[in-house]
Amino acid sequence: MFHLQKATQVTSAESDQTGNDILLRLAEHYRYPPRPSEGPGAAAPFVRANMVASIDGAATHDGKSGGLGGDGDKTVFRVLRGLADVILVGAGTATTEGYRQPQPDEAFADLREENGQTPAPALALVSRSLSIPPDYPPLSHPDTVVLTCASAPADRRAALVDAGATLIDCGEDDVETSTLIETCGKRGRPRVLCEGGPSLLGSIIADDLLDELCLTTSPHLAGGRAGRIVTRTGDGEDTATLKGMSPAAIITDDDGYVFTRWLRHGRSSIH
Ligand SMILES: NC(=O)c1ccc[n+]([C@@H]2O[C@H](COP(=O)([O-])OP(=O)(O)OC[C@H]3O[C@@H](n4cnc5c(N)ncnc54)[C@H](OP(=O)(O)O)[C@@H]3O)[C@@H](O)[C@H]2O)c1
Repeated sequence: MFHLQKATQVTSAESDQTGNDILLRLAEHYRYPPRPSEGPGAAAPFVRANMVASIDGAATHDGKSGGLGGDGDKTVFRVLRGLADVILVGAGTATTEGYRQPQPDEAFADLREENGQTPAPALALVSRSLSIPPDYPPLSHPDTVVLTCASAPADRRAALVDAGATLIDCGEDDVETSTLIETCGKRGRPRVLCEGGPSLLGSIIADDLLDELCLTTSPHLAGGRAGRIVTRTGDGEDTATLKGMSPAAIITDDDGYVFTRWLRHGRSSIH
């Protein structure tokens, strides 16, 4: 009935001794499920989300998720980016949290080359309103896409295109979550890392498109009124269908952070 196992602990002493080895060990631990090099399975997206919450479920402190993070959390964040083809993020989160263009990380260069991946993950910004400042630097990078819908305001669309952005419509009146994810696969970026925020993750979960959740529990009680890692307007509080997840791993660090991986039932491989 019970499986009493000690969580794997990653200590700072270990990380001092082994330098990049700890990153590669974590990369092995967090690797995406293997995929065929050809055929339909090669482009099948696998959607992982990485989120942080306090023990009492707050997704932010002082309005940002960074307020809950620690050194271990930053390391896991770096490893997950090192493994991903694309970082899928709500435009609001990208601008609030000051996202920059992802850069190649030397620690994962060989691994990415072996996997046939580009040197750095691309950025995919999700927005219906397109109220992204046209001078937001990652917009004009050739690897960045803005995933929106046909009914997005035409003037904002024109302003972003003029600023060098690549816009892709993923629906008519709304951004359809399934089309978002399909688009990542079709663009050759099937290892999807969703970094939130809570609204985007809520849509992905509502459509049962999340394969894996990597959740950092920050060793703090936040109190207050901060929201959860998932918010979704429209769903009744108790009516959303529960989706079963299986624990895949638990890691702790010196500072008391707990890093869990949860797989959606039956999604431990590329589907
Ligand atoms: N704890 C964590 O791990 C974590 C992670 C990320 C963010 N956060 C925090 O969460 C807060 C932001 O929450 P949020 O829910 O507003 O973030 P969000 O999910 O990034 O939503 C922000 C914007 O993204 C776009 N968006 C999201 N889902 C969409 C969908 N299904 N279709 C079309 N557009 C969509 C919308 O842009 P438009 O309005 O332009 O249409 C929306 O306003 C910030 O305080 C951030 O720091 C916490």
